[in-house]
Amino acid sequence: MSASLVLSDTGASFAAWESAFRKAAPEVVLVRDEPERDLRGIRYCMTWKPLPGVYARMPDLEALFVLGAGVERFVGDATIPLQVQIVKMAEPGLTQAMEHYVLWQVLELHRGFRALATAQREVRWIDQTYPAPWDRKVGVMGLGTLGDAVARKLQGFGFATRGWSRSAKAIEGVTVFAGGEKIADFLDGLEILVCLLPLTPETRGILNADLFWHLAPGAGLINVGRGAQLNEADLLSALDSGQLSGASLDVFHTEPLPAPHPFWRHPKILVTPHLASDVDPESSALAIRQQIERAEAGQALEHVADRKRGY
Ligand code: GLV
Repeated sequence: MSASLVLSDTGASFAAWESAFRKAAPEVVLVRDEPERDLRGIRYCMTWKPLPGVYARMPDLEALFVLGAGVERFVGDATIPLQVQIVKMAEPGLTQAMEHYVLWQVLELHRGFRALATAQREVRWIDQTYPAPWDRKVGVMGLGTLGDAVARKLQGFGFATRGWSRSAKAIEGVTVFAGGEKIADFLDGLEILVCLLPLTPETRGILNADLFWHLAPGAGLINVGRGAQLNEADLLSALDSGQLSGASLDVFHTEPLPAPHPFWRHPKILVTPHLASDVDPESSALAIRQQIERAEAGQALEHVADRKRGY
């Protein structure tokens, strides 16, 4: 097998990706996109921040490999012809980084590390208790590739783990709730909520006062989905009233998060600059090579976004 793949991205390093493909997928020839470059005849493209006009310059494009898991910008882009398959990235580097990030934040909230850090700064030797992990109710909203892996990991670390997704799923050891009518049961009494939902019209603003109300008093929130899923004013009120005790946020309505934004200096909010998880070039190259092999053999691609559903 030998195939050409265009890298159209305003931020990615062509040299780094080229070397990753040379190591992990030498059958795939990487082609650099440049403004005005004629890319006729090439059927595959990968991107996160595409160069202007790339889809018009690729009339033979069949599959667009997105270098990330959240594809809302692509499924909503009317300039991408309908016959082009939009493919979400699923590769071990991206998944494991997300597992680590969520585990880190869950452990922080579970063990009250923020209070401990404050106590250290104030030179106070404090006493702090915590429940056994199996008594800690943790829930993951969104059970796609990342949410599924994260829920399994949390379960593996002994937490009483629940999951919620649009359609029914079975994950061993995890209590899974499916569909809108089950969301209240999923949320009821949860102590740590992880959001890994895709951004769609239905999930925009879903992390709001109504939802917080279902959680256990003093629950923690971890948002690694998209910033637009969070009602920021509702979060601030819930933290002020003590309804929520802490939030770990990696994604924001406006990125970079503007300097005057109250989240930056809020004592109960941990801000990370949208780096919870990023693709690993070599394992992404391998994943894309496997997808291209499937396409070349006339097989269906995996992780293809459904434009109607929006993810
Ligand atoms: C990053 O936010 C991604 O969607 O992979």
